[in-house]
Amino acid sequence: MRELQLPSYKEQSQKVKERFDRIKQRELILKVERLSKTFDSEKGPVLDNISFQTYRREFVSIIGPSGCGKSTMIRLIAGLEDIDSGKIIVNNKEISGPGIERGMVFQGYTLFPWLTVVENVMYGLLRKKMLRTEAKNCALNWVKIVGLEKYQDAYPSQLSGGMKQRVAIARSIATHPKMLLMDEPFSALDPQTRSKMQAYLLEIWKNVNISITFITHDIDEAIYLSDRIIVLKTDPGEIQEIIEVPVPRPRTPEQFLSPEFLATKKRLEELIHPKKDDDEVNHIIIPPDINENVL
Ligand SMILES: Nc1ncnc2c1ncn2[C@@H]1O[C@H](COP(=O)(O)OP(=O)(O)OP(=O)(O)O)[C@@H](O)[C@H]1O
Ligand SMILES: [Mg+2]
Repeated sequence: MRELQLPSYKEQSQKVKERFDRIKQRELILKVERLSKTFDSEKGPVLDNISFQTYRREFVSIIGPSGCGKSTMIRLIAGLEDIDSGKIIVNNKEISGPGIERGMVFQGYTLFPWLTVVENVMYGLLRKKMLRTEAKNCALNWVKIVGLEKYQDAYPSQLSGGMKQRVAIARSIATHPKMLLMDEPFSALDPQTRSKMQAYLLEIWKNVNISITFITHDIDEAIYLSDRIIVLKTDPGEIQEIIEVPVPRPRTPEQFLSPEFLATKKRLEELIHPKKDDDEVNHIIIPPDINENVL
């Protein structure tokens, strides 16, 4: 069988190149400088000397094997964990804890179960000292944007997983943060709901001025959503490569089979699941009591 000839994942059409040029002229929203984190000194650093930056309205995914420190990284950027060494600068200010310029959506459904949909979205607005009536109007508008106006008075337990994450997104964006940090927000959803939510997130992102840092395990999801993908490796968690996704926008599910999508996917597979010379398959030892004829 002939192998499909793919272009290089580094090859970009003029349109894609121009988009990256435009992005790089925008202001920096996040600067991570020589970031390291160790939990257990015997095991060594979980994250070692990580540096990268993201621009205004850029969508950046972080991908890597389980345990490579993705959630740790997002928790550090969120200010929920202390940094050992290095710096995180958001919107030109070094962070020292959580802040309203960073919204968060995590994997578990983090809505307050005792509050209705609209009250959940109002929560951050009231904390920002917005008046109650104004907060309610603003929250209702967001509930509408995420398509849940019929459910505005429902409680989280009455919603599906996808709906809960839509409320979580509305709640985080309603306060107008500069960036949204998302840690595997769709991984608990069934595949169909998950792809709907991906398209949905792109649609929302198109209409708000926000940079997204998105953690995922899923290669297709990373390519479909991102401008750039940061690939981490384990032990210690270091950046292997930062890939500029050559797939043009607007993205559509049909692009999953385009040559540039497949070329990027192939590169990510190589980085995340590298083939080893001593692949287990080559090392199956057949016990001596198994007769060759049986095989
Ligand atoms: N609070 C903590 N205390 C001690 N060790 C921790 C803590 N948080 C994370 N770790 C360790 O740091 C490493 C990275 O964990 P992390 O959750 O960041 O990985 P991950 O890339 O998000 O993994 P997954 O893909 O499975 O979600 C793991 O070895 C984990 O055990
Ligand atoms: Mg994680």
